[in-house]
Amino acid sequence: MLLPLSTWSEIQQFLERSRTIVIPIGSNEQHGPTGLLGTDWMCPEIIAHHAQKSADILIAPTFNIGMAQHHLGFPGTITLRPSTFIAAIGDWTRSLVAHGFEKIFFLNGHGGNIASIEAAFSELYAEASFHRRPAGFALKLCNWWDLEGVGTLANAQFPVGHGIHATPSEIAVTQWAFPGSIKTADYSPQIANWGPIREAADFRARHPDGRMGSDPALASPGKGRELVLRAALSLIQELEVFSEESGPI
Ligand code: NI
Repeated sequence: MLLPLSTWSEIQQFLERSRTIVIPIGSNEQHGPTGLLGTDWMCPEIIAHHAQKSADILIAPTFNIGMAQHHLGFPGTITLRPSTFIAAIGDWTRSLVAHGFEKIFFLNGHGGNIASIEAAFSELYAEASFHRRPAGFALKLCNWWDLEGVGTLANAQFPVGHGIHATPSEIAVTQWAFPGSIKTADYSPQIANWGPIREAADFRARHPDGRMGSDPALASPGKGRELVLRAALSLIQELEVFSEESGPI
């Protein structure tokens, strides 16, 4: 069930049978010469939207702008600063909690978001902690590539050249979902170099085409399909465990 395609009364009915909601969260940033700018928000959205076709789960609108300041050297990248991101996650969460949601599951598609999402969780829990009262909600962060079975599958699909940015696994997922937007390029070197992540000018100088350690030519829609099917199944299982977890008090 997709929240944006639902009415308020349908959400009210959903709340009578579940207090859990999934928020796909990512980033809009360069993904090398062939990766789509939306890759990091599309991957968790594609997986979540696929999962809800076979399970009674609710998917919120995708939070599609994240921590991408180091990619601003490449046109099309849009970023928030950490304080804005943390504040926005706070207000999304407070809105959902106000309606009665108690388990809020963030399915993340961007490694650069992790620290700030966890900081946002700490801010939200602190509001209850300072008053020494129960929060009334529980938050969970899960990166889509950490869903059970996904890492094993990606390692088997891409034993070399996976890297950490503009990876063939994430590009494969978008290729499966958007076959009309598959791009090609000659990569040089075939597997990109690695390096630290600092500010935008430094990143562009170290990684001139935007990739980090990856060979996106290894991606294919078929591999993307395998990843989405595995991830969607594991997401449904994760949500069952999270929903049944005892508490909040
Ligand atoms: Ni990415």
